[in-house]
Amino acid sequence: MKFTPKWRKAILTLHVITAVGWLGADMVLLTLGIAGLTGGVGKDVAYPAMSLVGAVLFVPLTYLVWVIGVVNAVGTPWGLLRWWWVAVKLVIVTVMVFLVTFLLYPGLVHAGELKDALPRRDQINLVVAPSVSSTLLIISTVLSTYKPWGRRVRQQQADSASRALVGE
Ligand code: HEM
Repeated sequence: MKFTPKWRKAILTLHVITAVGWLGADMVLLTLGIAGLTGGVGKDVAYPAMSLVGAVLFVPLTYLVWVIGVVNAVGTPWGLLRWWWVAVKLVIVTVMVFLVTFLLYPGLVHAGELKDALPRRDQINLVVAPSVSSTLLIISTVLSTYKPWGRRVRQQQADSASRALVGE
């Protein structure tokens, strides 16, 4: 089932707001991570702030972007697995869901609790992790606008794979 043009615009608007908002929240994490590491802001401010941005913004957006992205793809002629640029974004965001759930978010909570006592290795990780994720999200944005590489599989194959993925 495909969206009507009105629904398609509404879902695409929601998709762009959540996806680009997610990138913005990631850049805030990176800014705070650098400030905490270099002393631009006290660690007792930077790390609790990172933990808060993670809990109220970054982590919820991670799941929202995955769900809205998948809905957006399935409900439009692009499909979920039909075009390389969509399939690669799906892989990037799915990998991010696991990294955020099992590595980044626990690290942010830990940093918010330890503040000044956070070991230097963990402080460096709080710069490396948002650098990697921001890069992945910038790549996703570029893929979305340039839509490179053409079709991944023939239409019929892609349709049945998408239906299997959403349980139809
Ligand atoms: C689960 C992952 C994702 C999927 C399956 C997905 C799928 C799609 C699809 C199918 C469209 C075209 C919709 C239409 O024409 O109506 C689209 C557009 C777009 N996506 Fe995603 N997306 C995902 C993640 C992301 C991420 C992480 C970003 C950026 C951080 C992003 C940014 C955009 C932008 C800016 C557009 C608008 C492009 C245009 O209208 O030319 N998407 N996405």
